[in-house]
Amino acid sequence: PSTLPIKDCTSITPPYPRLLETLEKVRNVLPKKSKLTLAEKILYSHLRNPEESLRGKGKIRGERYLKLRPDRVAMQDASAQMALLQFMTCKLPSCAVPASIHCDHLIQAQTGAASDLTRSIETNKEVFDFLESAAQKYGIEFWRPGSGIIHQIVLENYAAPGLLMLGTDSHTPNAGGLGMLAIGVGGADAVDALTDTPWELKAPMITGVKLTGQLQGWATPKDLILHLAGKLTVRGGTGRIIEYFGPGVPAQSCTGLATIANMGAEVGATTSTFPYSDNMRQYLHATGRGPVAEAADAAAKKGFLSADEGAEYDEVIEINLSELEPHLNGPFTPDLATPLSSFSSFLNDNKYPTTLSSALIGSCTNSSYEDMSRVASIAEQAKAAGLKSKVPFLVTPGSELIRATVEKDGLQSTLESVGATVLANACGPCIGQWKRDEHKGEDNAILTSFNRNFKARNDGNLKTMNFLASPEIVTAMAFSGDLKFNPTTDSISTPNGPFKFTPPSGDRLPPTGYSAGDLSYAPSPSPVPQPQTEIAISPSSTRLEILEPFGTNFANGAGELPSMRCLMRVKGKCTTDHISAAGAWLKYKGHLSNISENTLMTAVNDESDSINKAIDLEGKEDTIPNTMKAYKAKNEPWMLVVDDNYGEGSAREHAALQPRFYGGAMIVARSFARIHETNLKKQGILPLWFLNKADYSKISAHDVVQTKGLEKVMDGTSTTDVVLLEVTKPTGEKMVVETRHTLSKDQIEWLRYGSALNYIGAMARQ
Ligand code: F3S
Repeated sequence: PSTLPIKDCTSITPPYPRLLETLEKVRNVLPKKSKLTLAEKILYSHLRNPEESLRGKGKIRGERYLKLRPDRVAMQDASAQMALLQFMTCKLPSCAVPASIHCDHLIQAQTGAASDLTRSIETNKEVFDFLESAAQKYGIEFWRPGSGIIHQIVLENYAAPGLLMLGTDSHTPNAGGLGMLAIGVGGADAVDALTDTPWELKAPMITGVKLTGQLQGWATPKDLILHLAGKLTVRGGTGRIIEYFGPGVPAQSCTGLATIANMGAEVGATTSTFPYSDNMRQYLHATGRGPVAEAADAAAKKGFLSADEGAEYDEVIEINLSELEPHLNGPFTPDLATPLSSFSSFLNDNKYPTTLSSALIGSCTNSSYEDMSRVASIAEQAKAAGLKSKVPFLVTPGSELIRATVEKDGLQSTLESVGATVLANACGPCIGQWKRDEHKGEDNAILTSFNRNFKARNDGNLKTMNFLASPEIVTAMAFSGDLKFNPTTDSISTPNGPFKFTPPSGDRLPPTGYSAGDLSYAPSPSPVPQPQTEIAISPSSTRLEILEPFGTNFANGAGELPSMRCLMRVKGKCTTDHISAAGAWLKYKGHLSNISENTLMTAVNDESDSINKAIDLEGKEDTIPNTMKAYKAKNEPWMLVVDDNYGEGSAREHAALQPRFYGGAMIVARSFARIHETNLKKQGILPLWFLNKADYSKISAHDVVQTKGLEKVMDGTSTTDVVLLEVTKPTGEKMVVETRHTLSKDQIEWLRYGSALNYIGAMARQ
């Protein structure tokens, strides 16, 4: 049943007729009788030009680049800042696809929901005001602080079978629980979708996971993904989509599937998905989206929402759910999986603490109605035995919908009666927004139903060991306080004798329907852009700064870059973390001048073998960002020489924005990480590859470098991808170094206009 009114589903129903039509074209291009997996069907039906992408012989998966048209974008409050600042530079009146902003990451847990929310709104007022005004101007749905966590809200409101969505958060794949492809990206990729620019993705390999059997007793979908993380490790899913199939899939609740998809991010998977099922249909109806379910039913009848019979996977992993036992993963990495039955000896063997210091449940990973009702069934048993939680027991509801429903059905009071504190509907302790004064600097162990457990992630304490488990196991352990306690076999002593839990039980969907709760947090659906809205950014803000469009480096239509100096030669591994550090710098994500102060601050200078040191134009040694600033102040363009796989790690657009902001015009590498190379081009920096890797050491700091032959690349008359660099040493000695470019036609325009966004804006205004 749904007590929610049926929503207007116009903007949230996938464009099935168009997708089916594209899929038909795809089948005509592919070899006859090709069998497609579900992931391929969803990806290929979103191709902008299936003929160009898929025609011809040769492998597609793992080889070809797909130009895609995503249906929707979701952004959280931390990453939305730079995404929107970039979007603003193209001066478009509205977004090309429906989009939403979710205020969840900036809310700090301290004492409880109401006070935490009030305080966090005050501390982050300028950021929230900026996001809200930008949302209003461009017609983006704005979910206010307190509305809930991005992935839970997306699942409840926007996710739909067959949809392709981008989200500026790594756990965006959570929406895969509704049989779609939801992919976590950086802000620059989100802007591609918002501006109707083709979004490029290398066709992923597909890992098939076949589920057989049935979950028993205490085992949950969370245990399935904890177990799989142990098998695949944190890198096992890289460049892959995980597609689940087999008789064990339809029996899982939609929200349970979302938990599995959410944590696919922990094995590095691009995303995870599942065939459309009856449970998905029921969830859509229960959340007021009957019309989406009906449209999905019709699309499923045409074979769209499941794999073709006989479709092939690049690898298949089989898991028998009947044999699965609860798992605890950690500490410090989500792929260190230990079955509950051996957890006690695992702790002994490693001399880890055995006393639990806090128990935390909820988050975007595990706060469904089903999770909460099963947890409440454990709390009821404990309460009847006279037990209370032995440790702080914190509950983070994923959304206002969940919080209000759990309150209406009495589950919240049950949890509170055994000692739980309910936090705000926000990320809170999951992302380190947890003010925890106890155990500072001490070894201690917490249990969470979250998804990530890297060091210091939750409370900033490097020594806090976070073990990930199902909410049911976390809750049962809270009553014992002892990590060696196995709730499936052991008893807790009480004045009335030993007490033993029976396995949890609960409802997948609320028996009397969901309650919407406080509607003031939610946006009005499909808001109309209001172009007259002023975007709220104070000129004195240290956290937000209007992004000025970059000027072109090709002054007066020149086809060669101006001659420039080499600022330094970067040695060895240089990831996007080296180029733009995270941690404390995150608060400046919306302020390019301030965050640029960290540029390359952990990079190694090959000539002096020192970290964060470079020589400025006066011959003075300074930090790398200061040296860049000095070049900028003198209007001196500069270039970098870098090593292999430069920019590996992430899609972080700041790693390209910052060098560009300081006047970097060209980076010559032994090799680039592909996403970062594209990001450099997007921001108007020319990336070049040494033809001969040994030439890396031929260019030194302060050499003057001049491109030769770029002009022909820019005007389209070049017959080769080679670009020569004429290098003049301070002694006057000259030499020529051969490099190659990888610019496509569009990318040449990005460079000519100074950035991809300048080009997109100019085209839109024509
Ligand atoms: Fe937030 Fe943690 Fe999920 S940070 S989005 S609750 S992974």
